[in-house]
Amino acid sequence: MDQIIVEGGKRLAGEVVISGAKNAALPILASSLLTDGQNTYSNVPALKDIESILVLLSHLGSRIESNYPFIRIDAAGLNNYDAPYDLVRKMRASILVLGPLLARMKRAKVSLPGGCAIGARPINLHLKGLSLLGAEIELQHGYVEARADRLRGNEIFFDVSTVTGTENLMMAAVLAEGTTVLRNAAREPEVVALAEVLKKMGARISGDGTSVVTIEGVPSLSPVSVSILPDRIEAGTFMIASALTGGEVVVKHCEPEHLGALIHKLRQTGAEIEIGQDRLTVCGADEIVSVDVKTLPYPGFATDMQAQFMVLMCVANGQSVISETIFENRFIHVSELRRMGADITVSGNTAMVRGVPHLSGAPVMATDLRASASLILAGLVAHGQTEISRVYHLDRGYESIERKFAGLGAAIRRVRG
Ligand code: EPZ
Repeated sequence: MDQIIVEGGKRLAGEVVISGAKNAALPILASSLLTDGQNTYSNVPALKDIESILVLLSHLGSRIESNYPFIRIDAAGLNNYDAPYDLVRKMRASILVLGPLLARMKRAKVSLPGGCAIGARPINLHLKGLSLLGAEIELQHGYVEARADRLRGNEIFFDVSTVTGTENLMMAAVLAEGTTVLRNAAREPEVVALAEVLKKMGARISGDGTSVVTIEGVPSLSPVSVSILPDRIEAGTFMIASALTGGEVVVKHCEPEHLGALIHKLRQTGAEIEIGQDRLTVCGADEIVSVDVKTLPYPGFATDMQAQFMVLMCVANGQSVISETIFENRFIHVSELRRMGADITVSGNTAMVRGVPHLSGAPVMATDLRASASLILAGLVAHGQTEISRVYHLDRGYESIERKFAGLGAAIRRVRG
């Protein structure tokens, strides 16, 4: 297995171009199932998770042409509604084919996605919503079996704001008979991006980006040609890296308005941030001020930025309380950061981070996608060398991350294992 080696102490400077957002590309690529023609996608990031969903779509009968960042998908030949365990287990977001398959094929058999390192990740709200649209749902042998001769619009209230739940139900409702209203819908930019693509396909959706989304069912949808929006989590990771190293980094091809909570928090820590049309310039301060953070659904502080921000607080000038309200086990990176000299105490979903003068390089292990990024950040400011193993977690969600950091002056390299 590959390792990433980081020598600490380099101040980052220069420009980095952000790739397309994994969490927008996954539902948008799945939405190709709703059409019987050729869809063209640009700015698609070359990631393991993208490969996984393309293999699944091909298994279902779609014709795929991939030449990153361009992908073509023609779902005219859709001839299978079975998403098997050996494909779904590789990437739990494969559950995003459930809604569109049901809408297009009237049937779907999708392996139940397992949990993952950060939590149980149930899909009960996805299934409750599909039942309310008239689907018959059976759970057996580790699979969800769903069928519906005709999906009918209904009112659906999400007990918890769920990103992929909102996305799955939007894709199921666009071809349903009548009107569907999703209440307590997720407001993430990736949900809005999917809604915009569905509207380009001919769907009738309003309220996307608010907590009440209304979908008027239509008889059919047409293929589209669209670009994937920039990845706000990748952008935020590089913004924090600049603040962490006292650097001066221009984060290009991003959407600043999707980063409001992070901009606000980073400014509180003393970083200077200049906002451009499609870029942000982040200048790190000599002294990092400790601030408290609580993760919340968008537009609150993103849970996917929590591990990265914690690293900044590890070398800040005081104490910071970090509360993780979205997932039940998203402090796995804490034990690895402690091995690098961080002073962090966890109690339930709260971590107390006391800033230390510096971290020290060590061999560490990645455990989940965003925690892996936090280990690179820690290595950037640690004294000495940090060897990060199990970097396959990183490759699921960050395109050429070591090349991008090296381009900013980091002493970082990948060792093929
Ligand atoms: C999406 O996951 C993202 N993944 C996650 O990014 C992200 O962390 C998460 O949203 C929160 O923003 C993709 O978009 C592919 P949720 P998702 O459903 O949709 C509970 C990354 O690093 N819940 O919004 O699975 C759930 O347990 C990944 O790229 C139910 O209880 O998250 C959690 O506590 C990690 N029942 C909360 O809702 C359900 O049916 C929010 O989860 C669904 C969710």
